[in-house]
Amino acid sequence: MAARRVAVITGGSSGIGEATARRLAADGCAVAILDVNRAGGEAVAKSLSGRFYKCDVADAKAVDAAAGQIETDLGSADILVTSAGLIPNSEAIMDMDMAAHDRMWQVNYNGTIHACRAFGRQMIARKRGAIVTLGSINSRLPLPLPAYNPGKAAIERLTQLLAVELGRHGIRVNSVGPTYVMTPPLRAKVESGQRDLGKIMGVHALNRLPEPADIADAIAYLCSDQAKAITGVLLPVDAGWLAAVSYRTYAGGVPWTE
Ligand SMILES: NC(=O)c1ccc[n+]([C@@H]2O[C@H](COP(=O)([O-])OP(=O)(O)OC[C@H]3O[C@@H](n4cnc5c(N)ncnc54)[C@H](O)[C@@H]3O)[C@@H](O)[C@H]2O)c1
Repeated sequence: MAARRVAVITGGSSGIGEATARRLAADGCAVAILDVNRAGGEAVAKSLSGRFYKCDVADAKAVDAAAGQIETDLGSADILVTSAGLIPNSEAIMDMDMAAHDRMWQVNYNGTIHACRAFGRQMIARKRGAIVTLGSINSRLPLPLPAYNPGKAAIERLTQLLAVELGRHGIRVNSVGPTYVMTPPLRAKVESGQRDLGKIMGVHALNRLPEPADIADAIAYLCSDQAKAITGVLLPVDAGWLAAVSYRTYAGGVPWTE
């Protein structure tokens, strides 16, 4: 019998990371969750017979220590999904709080690098592995989130660099690019009026938003042998947002009505 794959999910206490942990556990993986949210992470880990490790991904030493502990507890990582992240409100560059800006880069971008380095080394030693980073529609187009949007573009480029650097070791590195997904941070922003659900729904090609499980399905595919020839790509999971956003704003009008 093949050994159980070990899947490490940063940000697995909530949202897309939680859905991914559930999906990969259902696929037979031994799941390790790294998150700052202990209560949520322990509950998710318990429900899927996985393990929780409290860890701030912005702290490289803490990520290295968690990686060592996971190797001892479960074995070295076969899969890494970097879903830990902060989601901001819209703001102007001239007005933004630089401490919050820097923290967002430390968590979203540096946190991705820290995890890819710590678990990538385990994968290099075994000459196999699959990594999926969390990009976004923000990876592709400007949106008024100046601490977040360029970071997501940088994560797409980082994913390409890692794909080339690690490819010779048999490791694939890809990204998923979700549109708006109704996880706790987006729900809170819709409820407080910081995101307009009507505007969101008016843009997508499909009349629905992806659910966390839809993003998890794409991640599971990219981690599977079915994607063995795919590396260095960002797979949008966006209900057609990228296709529709320029089309719907065409100055000549859209040649059909809903
Ligand atoms: N929800 C969306 O609309 C959406 C769209 C595109 C991309 N994304 C990306 O998906 C990822 C997950 O977002 P989500 O919507 O599931 O949010 P979420 O808040 O539900 O989950 C994020 C998790 O990351 C954890 N986290 C935050 N800072 C951390 C840190 N320093 N160290 C370790 N863990 C930390 C949180 O505790 C939380 O459990 C993020 O990278 C986000 O940018 C989300």
